[in-house]
Order: sequence, then C-alpha cells, then structure tokens
Amino acid sequence: MTHDPLYFPRSELAEIIAKSLYGGITHAFTLFAPRRMGKTQFLLKDIKPTAEAAGFNVFYFSFMDSTAPTVDFQAALLRFAESIKTGGKVQNLIGQISKIEIMGSGIERRTERQQAELRLSDIIADIAGGSRPSLLLLDEIQELARQPDTGGLIRSLRTGLDIHQQQVKTIFTGSSTNGLRAMFNDIKAPFFHFAHALDFPTLGREFTDFLAGVYQERTGRGLDGGELYRAFERLNKTPLYIRAMLQDMIINPDLSIGQAESIRLEEMHKHADTAAQWRHLSLIEQLILSELANGQTAIYSAQTRQALARVIGVDDIGTSTVQNNIRKLERKDLITRDGANRLQINSPILKTWILENVER
Ligand SMILES: Nc1ncnc2c1ncn2[C@@H]1O[C@H](COP(=O)(O)OP(=O)(O)O)[C@@H](O)[C@H]1O
Ligand SMILES: [Mg+2]
Repeated sequence: MTHDPLYFPRSELAEIIAKSLYGGITHAFTLFAPRRMGKTQFLLKDIKPTAEAAGFNVFYFSFMDSTAPTVDFQAALLRFAESIKTGGKVQNLIGQISKIEIMGSGIERRTERQQAELRLSDIIADIAGGSRPSLLLLDEIQELARQPDTGGLIRSLRTGLDIHQQQVKTIFTGSSTNGLRAMFNDIKAPFFHFAHALDFPTLGREFTDFLAGVYQERTGRGLDGGELYRAFERLNKTPLYIRAMLQDMIINPDLSIGQAESIRLEEMHKHADTAAQWRHLSLIEQLILSELANGQTAIYSAQTRQALARVIGVDDIGTSTVQNNIRKLERKDLITRDGANRLQINSPILKTWILENVER
C-alpha cells in the first residue's frame, strides 16, 4: 500500500481492539458507523498492521464490493485457509465451491450449497489449525444477511467462529444497523450477543489539526484550526469530505476554507441528488427526518407527535403511525440506530442537506 499523506492514523483505537482480541478479553467486535466514516480504512490501515505486528494472520473481506458475496466469501476464506495450511482437504473444498458457482438453481444446487455450508465451519477449523491466531475482518457484514438463502451459511459461520474462538478472532463492521440488528441483536439471530458492539468513534479536533499541519507543510501557509474544525462539524464529521476539501486547498492554495467547503457541499449534493430523493418521501417521512437531523431523538414523545400533527394539519398522530414511518425509513436505509439504539440519519449527505434546506 502506498503511503497516504492525508490519512490520519487511529493507532490508539487499533491497539485497544487488537489487545482485547489478543488477550482474550473478547473474541469478536462489531463496529457500527454510517457510510464514509472511515471503517474500511481503519480496518486496512490501522487494524491490519497492528494485528499483524501482534502476530495474527489477517483476512479481509468486503461484502459490499462483491456481486456474489456468498460464493466469493467462501472462496476467499478458502484461499486464506490454504495460505495458512496447505493440504489435500482444502484443495477438495475449492473444487466444491467452483461447482456451486457454475451450477444452475434447483434441488441439486441446494444440496451442493448445503454441503458447502457444512464446510464453512470446516474452513474455520483449518484456519484455527494454524500456528498463529487469525483475525477475520468482515466488512459490511449486513450485506451477507441481505442475500437470499444465507441462513445456513451464517449459522455455519457462527458455529465455526464459536468453536474456534481461542484461535480465530473477528471484527465485523456494518453501516446498516437494520441489517446488523437482524444478525446480532435479535434474540432469534444467529449472532445474538456473539460480538462486543462498539460505536465507531467520530474523529475530532486532532484530525483537523493534523490536516491543517499537512496543509502547512505542503503549501507553506497557515490554516485556522478552529475554522477548519467547524467546517468538519458542518460536514457531519465525515472524513471523506473534509479530506477532499483539503486536497482542493492544497492543489489551489488561494481557496479559503469557506470556498472549499461550499464546493464540496455542492459536489456532494449534486452527486447524491438529494433534492430528488427528498421529493420522493411522504410529508411525515420528511418531518421525521428533519426532526432527527436537528438532533431530536424523542420522535415518539407526545410533544413531537403534536408538532408533526400541526404541520401536517391533522388533530393527532398516533405512535403506531410514527412507528410505521420509521420502519419505512429503515427499510429505505435512510435511518439506522447506533449501538445504544438511538435513531439517526444514515447518510451524512442527507443530514447536511436537510439542515441547510429544510425549514423546521
Ligand atoms: N483516518 C482517516 N484519515 C483521513 N481520511 C480518512 C480517514 N478515514 C477515512 N478517511 C477518508 O474517508 C473515506 C471513506 O472512508 P471508508 O473507510 O471507505 O469509510 P466506510 O468504510 O466507513 O464507508 C476514505 O476513502 C478516506 O478518504
Ligand atoms: Mg467501507
């Protein structure tokens, strides 16, 4: 990996997580955060090297980047097992996987798939047989649960990880808490209480000060740290956007923080077509989102419901109506919950757009 001068290392958090895994405090973590908050980068740039230095074999897989995540995941995990321990058994399993890949649907395929599912825990057993402990980084895991017919596979994964928790540690990340909840928090979910849930912390002033330092180093000019931090707050503390701002400013040192910020805000809304997305929502959905954007989390309270009813022009809005609309928004992935079950807007772009464009 080439060096990225604008990357702010999060070594302390990585150390804490790696130590907890290595020391057996816990064998699995889930990291929750909306998209673009830096989860993937954290896994690859901070966790991976830290864990490798601590003696782990590290495996990374993103369930978001694959069009056939179930098959790709099994194949990738096999390659990893193989790299740890080469033997005839693993070769066999690879044969099994490619067969599934090429077969059509129907009974035959299902039997094959069930066999492969059985073997997922075998693959983990192989990984556990290595001379060092292994760490699996499973990025955007909720996408696995979204695939059809993955129940057996998920159970097999859980079984393998459970049996071999001394040797095989896991970090799951997810940005759709709805999907994650289906895997981890529902009593009936296979991973119920399996992993220690962490809200992935947002970056603070130390991050923007770091960026200001890079700016100074590259351009020879100073930057107002307080002003940069406030811009970061207005961008909902999304590292992607503040970083893009800094790139703009380094390339064109005449840009002020305010100008660079407007360029980015405009860019990100144009790209996401937020206005169109907004128009497609019902009035009550819009109102709920606007409440959330403004930091109101007591959506069900009598006071909030009365306020909603007033705007809509009805006498009363019941909790069940609010609940139905929250479910709709969750299904559209527009809102999620954090680890403490508080509702929040999923996309920082949408949240910023609402704060700028919607009057309350
Ligand atoms: N610690 C960081 N320092 C600098 N930039 C970061 C950092 N973390 C994330 N970013 C920027 O934000 C972008 C999105 O991060 P990513 O890890 O892909 O988010 P996620 O996986 O949560 O969707 C990255 O491409 C990078 O430009
Ligand atoms: Mg990611």
